[in-house]
Amino acid sequence: MQVGIDQIGFYTPNKYVDMIDLAHARNEDPNKFLIGIGQQKMSVADQTQDAVSMGINATLRYLDHIERKNVGLLIVGTESGVDQSKSASLFIKTALNLPLNVRTFEVKEACFGMTAGIMIARDYVRLHPNHSAIVIGADIARYGINTGGEVTQGAGSISVLVKADPRIMTLSAGHSAYSADINDFWRPNDSAVALVDGKYSKDVYLDFFRHTFADYQKQTGLKASDFTALLYHLPFVKMGFKANQLAIEKRDDETKKRLADNFAASAYYSKQIGNIYTASLYLSFLSLLENAQLPANAKVGLFSYGSGAMAEFYSGQICEDYGKALNQTADQEMIARRQKLTISEYEQIFNQALKVPQDGLKLASDEKSGTWYFAGTENHVRQYRQK
Ligand code: COA
Repeated sequence: MQVGIDQIGFYTPNKYVDMIDLAHARNEDPNKFLIGIGQQKMSVADQTQDAVSMGINATLRYLDHIERKNVGLLIVGTESGVDQSKSASLFIKTALNLPLNVRTFEVKEACFGMTAGIMIARDYVRLHPNHSAIVIGADIARYGINTGGEVTQGAGSISVLVKADPRIMTLSAGHSAYSADINDFWRPNDSAVALVDGKYSKDVYLDFFRHTFADYQKQTGLKASDFTALLYHLPFVKMGFKANQLAIEKRDDETKKRLADNFAASAYYSKQIGNIYTASLYLSFLSLLENAQLPANAKVGLFSYGSGAMAEFYSGQICEDYGKALNQTADQEMIARRQKLTISEYEQIFNQALKVPQDGLKLASDEKSGTWYFAGTENHVRQYRQK
């Protein structure tokens, strides 16, 4: 029996900042952001979008195509949690009207959280082939206004359904994991924005890629040339580009070209959305599916990295009719219809979103109808509504 990704849904909020505007406002050369970092735009979440609402909105993209009663597991990976105790997944489960007997929880290990969920889901479905699992990554990357990390922010969610006999990608057995207790990026309990040692985080990311990719090749006998595409966690596009350069060095020209072209296709959405932490690797996956021409049975390698730090390399095989399970036009429309913010509008929205709204205050959303949003708290209980 093959187990893998059967459905994929994506959501990003309806506002963005253009990197050229940001560069001008911060007295930087725009090419530093466009070329040096590799980003063109970043999505901005206002006060009404959080990990819960974005996770609901991403899953709604495919919910009508699945058998809800078969969902036995719902996992949310996030580092933008809305509560220290209650999982984001319980709010999401209610909004999606999933069965009462679903096992559901939230996982955390920085940007690795969604991969942790997918690995658990893969093994769960192998043991329970009649059940499926929803795995969501949903995050808002916040480093702060006028910080070095500001250009690497973003907001969004990816949701996948893992089941037997999938339509998009089968997940191969095995993985290569690597972890170490380090301090490259973290967010203390008293901080709404991340703390980061940016240069160190870049070095560690590449070091963990070297370890996991080499170990995976040793374990499986596969070589870089056996992959149609290599996908990376993209905190910013240049980071994945550097890892891909390591993967293709000393390879034949055909391999170099294929992996470079497919990297560009996988980075296309991230360039416009920015960092979405846990879901970033899976935004690369979606971008590859919707922007590359993949041959039947394409072999795809995935590198997941979560600061702190935990990394894993694993792989999958693309299913023959994967295109039929995608929402390419709707995804592109969602990205295109976002409203461009001026830098002062962005700064105002950013600062407002850091504050907890006064209890009882009803928040309104300017999203399109059908979108779920955070509507404020009542008696300190978070309220989610559909517009
Ligand atoms: N034109 C083209 N490229 C330019 C440029 C210009 N005018 N000016 C600078 N650059 C290049 C630099 O050469 C550098 O490229 P390199 O990485 O290949 O050497 C790149 O732009 C970034 O410049 P740098 O001076 O390192 O930028 P910075 O000090 O502002 O920090 C980050 C960049 C990514 C470290 C910072 O945004 C950050 O901390 N982000 C969050 C951390 C993160 O995402 N870590 C990843 C691991 S999860």
